[in-house]
Amino acid sequence: MGIEFVQILPASGPRVPSDGAPAEQPRPATEAPETAENPAPTSGKLKTFYIETFGCQMNVHDSEKVAGTLIARGYRPVDNFEEADVVLYNTCSIREKAAQKVFSRLGTFKKGHRDNRKIIGVLGCVAQQEGDRFFERAPQVSLVCGSASYSKLPALLERLEAGNRRVTGLSLDTDECFETELTRRDNPFRAYVTIIEGCDKACSYCVVPMTRGPERSRASDKVLAECRRLVDAGYTEIQLLGQTVNSYKDPSPARLNFVELLTRVAEIPGVRRVRFTTSHPSDFTPEIVRALESDPVLCDHIHLPVQSGANPVLKRMLRTYTREGYLEKINCIHSAKRAISISTDIIVGFCGETEQDFEQTLSLLDVVQYDQIFSFKYSPRPNTAAGKWADDVPEEEKGTRLAILQDRQREIQFRRNQVLIGREFEVLVEGYQPRLQQAVGRTTGFAVW
Ligand code: SAH
Ligand code: SF4
Ligand code: F3S
Repeated sequence: MGIEFVQILPASGPRVPSDGAPAEQPRPATEAPETAENPAPTSGKLKTFYIETFGCQMNVHDSEKVAGTLIARGYRPVDNFEEADVVLYNTCSIREKAAQKVFSRLGTFKKGHRDNRKIIGVLGCVAQQEGDRFFERAPQVSLVCGSASYSKLPALLERLEAGNRRVTGLSLDTDECFETELTRRDNPFRAYVTIIEGCDKACSYCVVPMTRGPERSRASDKVLAECRRLVDAGYTEIQLLGQTVNSYKDPSPARLNFVELLTRVAEIPGVRRVRFTTSHPSDFTPEIVRALESDPVLCDHIHLPVQSGANPVLKRMLRTYTREGYLEKINCIHSAKRAISISTDIIVGFCGETEQDFEQTLSLLDVVQYDQIFSFKYSPRPNTAAGKWADDVPEEEKGTRLAILQDRQREIQFRRNQVLIGREFEVLVEGYQPRLQQAVGRTTGFAVW
């Protein structure tokens, strides 16, 4: 599947957190080691936490790991922030709107902030981006921690319990991925497994390299061991995650490349489906398609974000490929021995995007015939190269282009879906839709049925 933007509120178990207590002097605590020397909180009653998540699958999965870490330390998850001793809010900064939501939501947590002992913490990409500034804008926050520092969370919470008023975990210079003893997964069938953190590309519009730090791959033996444990625990589907998942470079002596790792995961006895997201077109190789062709456990779906169909725009975006180069990769997927569904991400109204450029994006939809697109209006972001350029496509025009693009895609999908009528597919049932009185699941191509 592609990058899906979600807001996850706790149901019955642990999730992502956010929220804290009042403060005085900001006191960075990034150096505090998180080791077995930092014991689980033992004082008094069992501590409770609430976690709420915005953003992409990587954020969702980080929240699962944070929840697992807290549970392993004796915390108990609760369903609403009012009841929680620790409220954590895992944030997304990809577009202005997402980032804006953070402060209004923190305002709500403040209302439930009846006693000063409640800890309100902000995690994720806005936390990393805003850092100490959170303490001024939202004084109820006492913990700010970016994704590269989650392994330090238990130590940070202990410092708060010990009387510190404000703590931060904002270092990005770690090559340690967030390994947890316990991950509390929300989906009982599909398990996310991070294989690469951060991003070394430098797309001119994007905050991710700043908010999640440089690219760090996880050792292949650790990835494989986690996948084996998941399959033993009954998960049927594994989704390998990374902002540029196919840029994976095994840091261990095994030196597996992405395709080798993918193949090894698919070979684990008992696994039914293996997916991966998100692939960067520049690192997308024909070997990935060959692997999918030869192993039906590898799902027949590739998410390959194009962003724009026009070369001048791609160049300004610093995407490192051209329309023609991208289409070569698409041709390779189209000519695979079995049908592989393709999805993408598109930004409309990027700096300097002309009518003709936009037409090129529309024509790309016709050529590729995507099964699904995720489309966004360009939103200038702080600390990015494009953030300093003129955001010269008017908001209204961006809206018009987005609507035209989505209409075009709707027509394409309608035609593509018509062809599927009457055919049978295996679906992994994920739930029940009471309104439709139907079970809901996904095909291996990630279509919802
Ligand atoms: N790593 C992935 C994308 C991560 S962000 C990749 O390289 O494709 C998910 C999507 O959000 C991006 O693909 C892009 O389409 C969109 N996006 C990122 N920054 C944006 C911005 N400043 N404005 C609008 N959309 C943006
Ligand atoms: Fe952002 Fe580009 Fe990295 Fe994707 S590849 S996360 S769009 S900088
Ligand atoms: Fe993901 Fe949003 Fe951060 S898309 S990487 S949570 S900025």
